[in-house]
Amino acid sequence: MASSFHFLHKPRLLHIFLILTILTPYAISCYTSIFGFGDSLTDTGNTLYIPPPSKAPNCVLPPYGETYFHNPTGRCCDGRLIIDFTAQNLGLPFVAPYFGVRNSSGAVNLEKGVNFAVIGAPALDDSFFEERGITNPFKNVSLRRQLNWFKDLLPSLCSTPSNRKKLLQSSLLMMNFGGNDYVRTLIAGRGAEEVRSYVPFVVNTISSAINELIELEVGTIMVQGCLPVGCLPYYLTYFRSSDKEEYDSRGCLIWLNKIAEYHNELLQIKLNHIRQLHPHATIIYGDIYNAALPFFLFPRKFGFTKEAHMACCGTGGLPYNINTSVACGYPPTFAFDHPFMYVSWDGFHLTEAAYRLITKGLLEGRYTIPPINTSCVSTVVSAEYSKFD
Ligand SMILES: *[C@@H]1O[C@H](CO)[C@@H](O)[C@H](O)[C@H]1NC(C)=O
Ligand SMILES: *[C@@H]1O[C@H](CO)[C@@H](O)[C@H](O)[C@H]1NC(C)=O
Ligand SMILES: *[C@@H]1O[C@H](CO)[C@@H](O)[C@H](O)[C@H]1NC(C)=O
Ligand SMILES: *[C@@H]1O[C@H](CO)[C@@H](O)[C@H](O)[C@H]1NC(C)=O
Repeated sequence: MASSFHFLHKPRLLHIFLILTILTPYAISCYTSIFGFGDSLTDTGNTLYIPPPSKAPNCVLPPYGETYFHNPTGRCCDGRLIIDFTAQNLGLPFVAPYFGVRNSSGAVNLEKGVNFAVIGAPALDDSFFEERGITNPFKNVSLRRQLNWFKDLLPSLCSTPSNRKKLLQSSLLMMNFGGNDYVRTLIAGRGAEEVRSYVPFVVNTISSAINELIELEVGTIMVQGCLPVGCLPYYLTYFRSSDKEEYDSRGCLIWLNKIAEYHNELLQIKLNHIRQLHPHATIIYGDIYNAALPFFLFPRKFGFTKEAHMACCGTGGLPYNINTSVACGYPPTFAFDHPFMYVSWDGFHLTEAAYRLITKGLLEGRYTIPPINTSCVSTVVSAEYSKFD
């Protein structure tokens, strides 16, 4: 009996092994490393390691990380972010937080990439806000500062200039900025007009950073736009209005989304200029605004069976499950079961389910302008997503 059991099952095991070998993402991708810049949409844990000027942000507390990492990693999500799904789909390890790497004894392979993003980071330097009397609730980690960390790290990444060129040419640099410049200003009580007047400064800061990265010969730069913040539960609660005219048919705040749209338009115009000046650089606009917007229009189509404007983690109140004075992580907040049924995790940030779908849209080329070279990612993508679709 025992021997025929083995005889019957060995070929089947071999068969399974072959299928796994074909589907397992290995280095099919054109990209050999990922570098991250930005804020809480991209931070994979820097905030855990930077000495805090005040209390640590809520994203380092449970229930953050409950879906995927099963403990808080410093990511502002129940699980993985866009940069995490991208890394997995390229067959690369999760992008290590710069400050975690700096403190470790060199066990992390920097050549696969490093993440400089920090929760709350604006594009503009602190001085911009100080001059205008806007206080900074977060750390001094503007785009300029993150870029300087990157430049400081480069010599230790590569022993020779030609190694460096090779490394940077085959890297994918992912950047998201803007949200915190505007939100910080709005929360400081400044009106929409003042916030709009900051947009050209923010976009110029982003575009001059891209120019510097092009000079460093970074191969591909993906710059994400702003999310439709006017659809997110925290802002819907904070700026709640009795005037129905302020809301669109999806229940989103029109004036707030218009600020994000203005930023995204201006950013795309700038990116076009940069592409004309540097035809050999690959500059991709990651349209996370339009990738996320349908979630609020047809939530069920995407598996979001709960009210799309309700945060998964909050104090329990209707209609948004948000009390603007208590952030997820602090009592008495709690998370509902099944975060994958929600678009928003904590009112500010999306769930890993939403980030997964956004990443799919980016890497399939539907929400990348120009479309990302899908032959660089498609095999890996289909292997990863086939587990969930
Ligand atoms: C990281 O290193 C800095 C100084 O180099 C230190 O102040 C900090 O406590 C360290 N953080 C961790 C998490 O070990
Ligand atoms: C903030 O960062 C800027 C740019 O790197 C630097 O010039 C400034 O001294 C920093 N401020 C503080 C308080 O660390
Ligand atoms: C929000 O939380 C604060 C602090 O716990 C509490 O004092 C307040 O009553 C809450 N507001 C609402 C609308 O529940
Ligand atoms: C896309 O990537 C493949 C694989 O590296 C390459 O052969 C092809 O030329 C690229 N296509 C474009 C349009 O860049």
